[in-house]
Amino acid sequence: MTEANVVVVPDEPLGTISPYLHGQFAEHLGKCSNEGLWVGPDSAIPNTNGLRNDVLDALRQLRVSMLRWPGGCYADLYHWRDGIGPREKRPKVLGESCGLRVVEDGGLGTHEFVWLCREIGAEPYLAGNLGSGSPQEMCEWVRYCNEALPTSIAQERAENGHPEPMNVRYWGVGNENWGCGGHYDAEGYAKEFRRFATFLRRSCDGLQLVACGFDDRWNAQLLEGLRNHLWMIDHLSIHRYYKSGSAIGFTEPEYYELMRAGEIVERDVRASSELIRFYSTDKGRKVGIAMDEWGVWHPEATASSGYQAPSTLRDAVAAAGVLNTFHKWCRDVTLANMAQIVNVLQVLIQTDGAAMWRTPTYWLFWLYRVHQGATSLRVDVAGPTVEAPPLEVPRPGPLSLIDATASEKDGAVAVTVTNRSHDQAIDVRLSFVHKTVGEPLGCEVLSGRPNGVNSADAPDSIRAIQGIATLESPKSIRLSAPACSVQTVIVPVA
Ligand code: AHR
Repeated sequence: MTEANVVVVPDEPLGTISPYLHGQFAEHLGKCSNEGLWVGPDSAIPNTNGLRNDVLDALRQLRVSMLRWPGGCYADLYHWRDGIGPREKRPKVLGESCGLRVVEDGGLGTHEFVWLCREIGAEPYLAGNLGSGSPQEMCEWVRYCNEALPTSIAQERAENGHPEPMNVRYWGVGNENWGCGGHYDAEGYAKEFRRFATFLRRSCDGLQLVACGFDDRWNAQLLEGLRNHLWMIDHLSIHRYYKSGSAIGFTEPEYYELMRAGEIVERDVRASSELIRFYSTDKGRKVGIAMDEWGVWHPEATASSGYQAPSTLRDAVAAAGVLNTFHKWCRDVTLANMAQIVNVLQVLIQTDGAAMWRTPTYWLFWLYRVHQGATSLRVDVAGPTVEAPPLEVPRPGPLSLIDATASEKDGAVAVTVTNRSHDQAIDVRLSFVHKTVGEPLGCEVLSGRPNGVNSADAPDSIRAIQGIATLESPKSIRLSAPACSVQTVIVPVA
């Protein structure tokens, strides 16, 4: 069997892995927010306060750390007042995102969304409307959610069932304003951002504001336009979608091309981070990178399919590389939201009527949840490589078949090992520098056919199951990594 060495270096911490690096995104698009999350209290599908129970349970178990809503492109056409007050009185309005027009009844509005977040333990992140809204409208949304003083808007929130402030801290100041959010140029958006941020900051203390980023050129021009007001931005939003071949019928080169997802995200992070460092004059305070939309976007996921596509093990294994990049760059990346949480694009969960099943990507996040809040550690990998097509990665080298991330918390190190080989198991030695390890406390593995999926009929055909890792010496652990797999091992360290 082919072999690889993964060396964990605990005395070189890379920073704390914010739980928000494992965040998710729910848009009013296709069957994500409506039908996937929200069915309404009168639905025959079992629900609590209109949100489907099966999905709530699955999300609670996963410990989703953050949820962004209501868009996406939907956000810059959304007026928050359409989603508050008695539901039967909420207006029926046109909702639109990515070419899909729907009659939106506002059932899933601010109260329902915040309730959902509190129920699953997620930090709410609201994307505000800069494109077709005004600073006044967005400031009122912030005050409606957060105002503690006895103002009329706080009174209105209380009458609608939430006397206490909702304490929503994360606010996106528009979404993709270089495109669907108003077709601004970077200079024009910089001006708008300054105007919005001035009044948002005066409306409420402690907000975390996310500015809309794009490519390197836009980001440089935006930061130039805000160079004297950088203190207004907490996070710069970057979106990254990728694809190679079709969702299920991909070739082997396409399989390997998708495995470069972590590398293309790392390119984005490195470039944005260099720009931010260049413009940061206040050394104590740094703008973070918010990769608040990322994931695979298969060619099948179009308006006519409601942006739905099969969600395979290949997608999950490729996404492991992205999470590893976030862990490696956890001093720079402050939050990330995979697109999207249910039914649309790369998903945790799929539904069909009353049926619900978890995707391989759900189980990927399951294997990673142990890293939340832990200290990210340097990992060096030596092992087999493969030639893989470039996936937009400039000057790509050979692709390492083994990838890994490690973190330390409460006297234990968790190591997640990915085997990207299409068809070969790899024998892996985990070596620990300057630490002694004990018998593994746990080992779970996700593996199967690269194009394997779960479905209503076979909801658990691909899922995390118990794996085997053995103590080889006080400094090393042995495990076998099946082809196309992700595996987390937890070991005590001293
Ligand atoms: O996630 C789908 C769409 O992709 C979002 O609405 C938009 O922000 C992005 O272009």
